[in-house]
Amino acid sequence: MHIETLAVHAGRKVDPATGAVMPPIHLSTTFERKPDGSYTEGFVYTRSENPNRRALEEALAALEGGQAAAAFASGQAATLAVLQSLAAGDPTTPPHVIIPEDTYFGTRHLVFGVLAPWGLQASAVDMTDLDQVRAAVRPNTRLVWVETPSNPLLKITDIAAVAEIAHAAGALCAVDNTWPSPLLQRPLALGADIAMHATTKYLGGHSDLLGGALIARADDDFFARIRTMQSTGGAAPSPFDCWLLLRSLSTLPYRMAAHCDHAQRVAGFLAAHPRVAAVHYPGLPSHPGHAVAARQMQGFGGMLSIQVVGGTAEAMAVAGRVRLFTRATSLGGVESLIEHRASVEGPDSLTPPNLLRISVGLEHPDDLIADLDQALD
Ligand SMILES: Cc1ncc(COP(=O)(O)O)c(C=O)c1O
Repeated sequence: MHIETLAVHAGRKVDPATGAVMPPIHLSTTFERKPDGSYTEGFVYTRSENPNRRALEEALAALEGGQAAAAFASGQAATLAVLQSLAAGDPTTPPHVIIPEDTYFGTRHLVFGVLAPWGLQASAVDMTDLDQVRAAVRPNTRLVWVETPSNPLLKITDIAAVAEIAHAAGALCAVDNTWPSPLLQRPLALGADIAMHATTKYLGGHSDLLGGALIARADDDFFARIRTMQSTGGAAPSPFDCWLLLRSLSTLPYRMAAHCDHAQRVAGFLAAHPRVAAVHYPGLPSHPGHAVAARQMQGFGGMLSIQVVGGTAEAMAVAGRVRLFTRATSLGGVESLIEHRASVEGPDSLTPPNLLRISVGLEHPDDLIADLDQALD
């Protein structure tokens, strides 16, 4: 089936108890055990499994083309579950992971700030240069983490090539697929083992829910460890958030098509503007990753960043003048957002001080362009 059809039907069925076309929300935290001790539907306790979460996981697995999916309470909880699942095995050899130099700053902070003190070893490299990935491999490398397009510089990594390097080293390859969504990029089909999502973003699509997900190519031992982190670690999403997210998935294909179209137009306008020193958008033929993106993506996405002429003050001034865009962090919602990324990331930020990150929403692109035009003037 086409992905538009899966987005509407995967994980959905008419409620057998009531005939309700849309699924009920199962708020119950606990499920009755039969007199013989069995659980007829397989549900015991909502931290381990819940009907709304099961339906969502089925839909997510179908959209990414994976064998299994696990939903989490946030994107960070999903990333943390992957990293914590690496630790199972030989306790005398700490695992080593390779992450992109340009990656969501929360991922970098989890790796270097939170887990490095527990013994996790990590290298950050420029993943657009495959030689740097190869050179970073160590005997104990267990994971290569990819984020493409990267946050906030929209660098493009060749997923198939990195997955090959990871597998040759006996490591897993996981891809943060939050920005493109499964509509625009299918990491598992390109050879990755795990696709990760901050479902808070495009999958939720309306800036009103926090969630994360991991989708696995194989329902194997590693995924069993992820399941353990989900149920025992306990960062499970609420039934209501699962329900809301499943509802949002139905419109994902059409939202993504509009996000891509609008972002391409906004990027084209900004690329020609004299007050803009650089536009980072893989849909522009001048972008260094354009050819790889055109090969591995089905669209270039709704995110872009610009570097304005000047420094922090000039960038903040442009953000201060927008009227239609909202000055806020996050992305992937129906409304357009703009943020001065370095000051959101804080003192450890590696982001250029004149960079503004833009999440292009579903407003008419001419209105968005007019707003940026007056803000840049
Ligand atoms: C690419 C990427 N990965 C992960 C996350 C973390 O997601 P969450 O905020 O749901 O924990 C974000 C959040 O902005 C993100 O942009």
